[in-house]
Amino acid sequence: MANEYNECKVNIIGAGLAGLSAARTLAERGCPVRLISVQQSERAQSNLAEGGINAVLDVMGENDRLEDHYADTIKGGCHLADPNMVAGLVADAPDIIRDLEKIGVPFHREKGQLIQRNFGGQKKKRTSYAMSSTGKVVMAALVDQVRRFEQEGLVERLPHHLMERLKITDGVCRGVQVRDRYHKKSILLSGPVILCYGGMNGLFSGETTGTTANTGTAAAIAYDQGVCFANLEFIQYHPTTVKITGKRMLISEAARGEGGRLFIYTADRQRQYFMEDKYGPRGNLMPRDVVSREMTLTGREVYLDLTGLSGQVWKEKLADLRQEIIDYMDLDPAAEPVPVSPGIHYFMGGILVDRNHETNIRDLYAAGECACAYHGANRLGGNSMLGAIYGGRTAGRAAADHMPGQDHVSQADLLLGKQNKTARESGNQEHKKKKDCSELIPLKGMSHQDKVREEEMKAALLSGLGVIRSREKLKAAGDRLQELTRLSLEKGSEEARVRLQLARAYVASALARKESRGAHSREDYPESREEYRKTTVVVCDEGEPAVSFRDIPELEENSSDEKTSLSHSICISQGAGEE
Ligand code: FUM
Repeated sequence: MANEYNECKVNIIGAGLAGLSAARTLAERGCPVRLISVQQSERAQSNLAEGGINAVLDVMGENDRLEDHYADTIKGGCHLADPNMVAGLVADAPDIIRDLEKIGVPFHREKGQLIQRNFGGQKKKRTSYAMSSTGKVVMAALVDQVRRFEQEGLVERLPHHLMERLKITDGVCRGVQVRDRYHKKSILLSGPVILCYGGMNGLFSGETTGTTANTGTAAAIAYDQGVCFANLEFIQYHPTTVKITGKRMLISEAARGEGGRLFIYTADRQRQYFMEDKYGPRGNLMPRDVVSREMTLTGREVYLDLTGLSGQVWKEKLADLRQEIIDYMDLDPAAEPVPVSPGIHYFMGGILVDRNHETNIRDLYAAGECACAYHGANRLGGNSMLGAIYGGRTAGRAAADHMPGQDHVSQADLLLGKQNKTARESGNQEHKKKKDCSELIPLKGMSHQDKVREEEMKAALLSGLGVIRSREKLKAAGDRLQELTRLSLEKGSEEARVRLQLARAYVASALARKESRGAHSREDYPESREEYRKTTVVVCDEGEPAVSFRDIPELEENSSDEKTSLSHSICISQGAGEE
């Protein structure tokens, strides 16, 4: 049985980039925080981020502008991202880089001057980086910042704790039940909750570049409890990954940003630089969805040729990546091409949030990879760390402003429109039907049989949700998952049941989107269709995925908003057809 732990604090689930950013923001405002995570921050997925962080600093003499970052992000996301949220993201990005520098992040400089690099899907060099270890150095600096607040007693750490259940009553999140992995004790923590649990790697175990410590169970629990999810069908396959034991190793897009080229061998052993042939000199840096699709369509083994990079580039910009390739593949990329293939790298979809990063449940927020916010149908490289830091900041500010006792009108109701309201209502009904959250029943973990079924679940997901999809493949995956659910309901744990439920939501979302857009490519619907330029929303309705679509909001010109000038100039340049 759980003990109640009643002091009201903001409970952050996940201690990676988004979680640390939220904790810091709250603590700076004097709000007490619990930072709850399965692993310590030093082991979070964010440490593995390689390439860098996008921000318009215009240090490369290319006349980079906020409007350009905005346009690249919206276009890269195939016009599915909320333009107002993207406007906020790009407007804050320069401040985020300046702040990170101030707290000691050693971004690459030359002759004292900050240098930015090329990244996929962007017309200008705007990615700030530290070799291929940007995540590590950013995390180290943020961990250190948060430690100060731990000393002051404002941030309390609960490492090795798993989320078991949200405490939701009357559509308001009032706390979270967590379990100590080692002492096997559950406790109920009171206060608002910010979910920052990262990507869904555990559903696709071994096939992602991300850590499988991000199991996906927290997402499955939230979904089961009526939290709305969005755009689940958009799963990013990074073009250049390599299968290693237990996961996929990432070969950073930075390698192509510095001149790496993709090729296949033709039947007569000639090299064919297929991306350049089709898309011109910038072909290797097309957005990831495009590159991964083209690679898959070749039907051949694809190689990344890095042999043309100078010694100086290897030494100053990619030394750690080169060493990793040598260590894991026993191959020196400076001397011979690297065989690569697309692998799951990022989940654009996730928990549906409003501009404050609040979900359809009041006082429940989500930020970072687990939230669906900025990336639409395809995320640009360099926008993920940015989105995590900015999302954490935004959720932290909102949670600080709305600490219990201070009633607020949730933007979710105002902004997300009727469809989301319906989802909110059905979500609320859904969790009314559930056990009273104050019963505090520990979540029953998976048995051996559940784990065997989990492998089958993964196989079904991978066959349905590959780089190229079809109704046939999706339908077969959906049927298999339904059968596994039936078996699990007969004899299986609650954890297995909720995971299967979420897996079905992925497939149902992909089946419902009858078009090809960004990372969702269907051979039976090869074109994008205007009627699907919408957000896919999925809610759990008595165990079944209920999918609907909602409109993408227009970009607003808000005169009281500090981003006024950006929104204004974006509106003007869109009007002038400059996008
Ligand atoms: O290729 C990379 O370095 C990945 C970066 C990102 O996903 O933002």
